[in-house]
Amino acid sequence: MYKNLFDQEVDIELPIFDGSEKVIGKGAQAVVYYCNGFAYKVYNDDYPEEWIKFEIFIQNEVANTNLPVVKYYETEVPNIIKMDYIDGITLGSRMRLEQYNNGIRDIILLEKKIHKVTDLKLLSFSSFAINDINSFQCNWQWKERAINFLEDIPEKNNLIHLDFHVNNIMYAEGNYYIIDWINARIGNPIFDYARTYIIMNEFMHPESKEYQTLLLSDREIDTSFWEKAVYVMALLRLKERRTKNTLELLQRLENK
Ligand SMILES: Nc1ncnc2c1ncn2[C@@H]1O[C@H](COP(=O)(O)OP(=O)(O)O)[C@@H](O)[C@H]1O
Ligand SMILES: [Mg+2]
Repeated sequence: MYKNLFDQEVDIELPIFDGSEKVIGKGAQAVVYYCNGFAYKVYNDDYPEEWIKFEIFIQNEVANTNLPVVKYYETEVPNIIKMDYIDGITLGSRMRLEQYNNGIRDIILLEKKIHKVTDLKLLSFSSFAINDINSFQCNWQWKERAINFLEDIPEKNNLIHLDFHVNNIMYAEGNYYIIDWINARIGNPIFDYARTYIIMNEFMHPESKEYQTLLLSDREIDTSFWEKAVYVMALLRLKERRTKNTLELLQRLENK
């Protein structure tokens, strides 16, 4: 017996669980359980199996680097991934509940560390983004502008996480761990920073301003294509989740 994303009790016995399992996290796609020393990511029954296999593939690629990530293991149940358990809290909780003040600085430090990795066999972000923009049913001027901006931004081969927000960073015993790599690609790091900024702008508005200020004043980061990247990523974000804040951000950049 387990609960699906909508908190409904699902009436099948999972051979993996013995009744001692506890919910430890909920994301957009899955519920995460703790059971006997491991974490288990349980996807909705209708979540495509290929996507789960793809997530395991990316995770294994990233596990070969020196980045702080957990190991994934396949299980006999197709919609469940077994993972090493991180006995800690998300950076979001650390900032909110423990009033930790250097969260934004830490996010940027971790992103820089991710972007140092350059030799992974993952898909390229830009080619995927062009298709994604083209298939978005929206105002054609938005699409045209986003595609032009995308073409202006140089292709790079850095690892980019593309969902790097405070709930995908965990903190345990003085160390950070980066989770939820399903969106990871190879590309220009500016897209990763832009995506982080947009997500933060949705639900941590004051912190998003601090993030942008720190980022734009960091001499180690090339931010010459910042606004163009934010425009591209805002349009892609709208395709996934239409929020007032992201719409306003897109419109603000349009009027520049
Ligand atoms: N290996 C893990 N150990 C401990 N907690 C985890 C682990 N993986 C995920 N979590 C918790 O579950 C939440 C959702 O997991 P995540 O992989 O980000 O799923 P989603 O793709 O649904 O966002 C995380 O924010 C975190 O609180
Ligand atoms: Mg997540």
